[in-house]
Amino acid sequence: MTRGWLLSLSCLAAALCLSCTPVTTADAEPGDADLLDLERMLRQRRFAPYQPTDLFDDGSVMRPPPAGAVPNDRVTGDPGLTHGFTGETYVARIPVPVTIELLQYGKERFEIHCAACHGVAGDGESEVARNMTLRRPPSLVDTRVQAFPPGRIYRVIVEGYGLMRSYETQVPLMERWAIVAYVKALGKSRATALDALPPPLRERARKELQ
Ligand code: HEC
Repeated sequence: MTRGWLLSLSCLAAALCLSCTPVTTADAEPGDADLLDLERMLRQRRFAPYQPTDLFDDGSVMRPPPAGAVPNDRVTGDPGLTHGFTGETYVARIPVPVTIELLQYGKERFEIHCAACHGVAGDGESEVARNMTLRRPPSLVDTRVQAFPPGRIYRVIVEGYGLMRSYETQVPLMERWAIVAYVKALGKSRATALDALPPPLRERARKELQ
């Protein structure tokens, strides 16, 4: 009985040892699912750009864009709308209708994409700003940034600025203008005296501020 046990144990050990041939990551093949190898995606069977193939009639792996596709950086119609400037000049007016819906949309998108650094109120007060040692995200509601023409804020979203990265791919065209409109509205809401509000709004603001 004991002998049988030992025998099967050594068989098991031998079997285990056979499967323990050292596998370096360079040997890994697709399908080595049990191997903890985080580089496998790099080495899977795939085509390299410009490689020939029989898969498509034109013999190339590079596929042409579908009919009607336009490059996302093409100036379609109004360059002010797409790029935020015409010629050398930033657009001085937001080139889409500024409605309450646009501002609400801008608020939502600002809070998703910008507030983490520039603060929910746009005043540069945020946890990220407090912890940034090099250059803090500035207030967007002070007179310096509020004096920017809308096209300049739009360009900062597209290109980034200094330490700030570009948000071009995350924030599409209409969202950018909605955010620009909201940044302007945040600035105005800071700089407006209570007495300048229409009476019903003034009363409401007084009550809410108490
Ligand atoms: C990860 C943090 C971060 C996020 C998110 C962020 N910014 Fe910034 N932003 C910065 C920093 C940092 C600077 C200052 C960069 C510098 O001076 O090098 C800056 C600068 C700016 C400026 C001033 C540019 C100038 O000319 O002085 C504007 C305007 C601005 N951001 C708008 C936005 C808007 C709009 C969004 C959302 C789409 C946004 N930022 C998202 C960090 C951020």
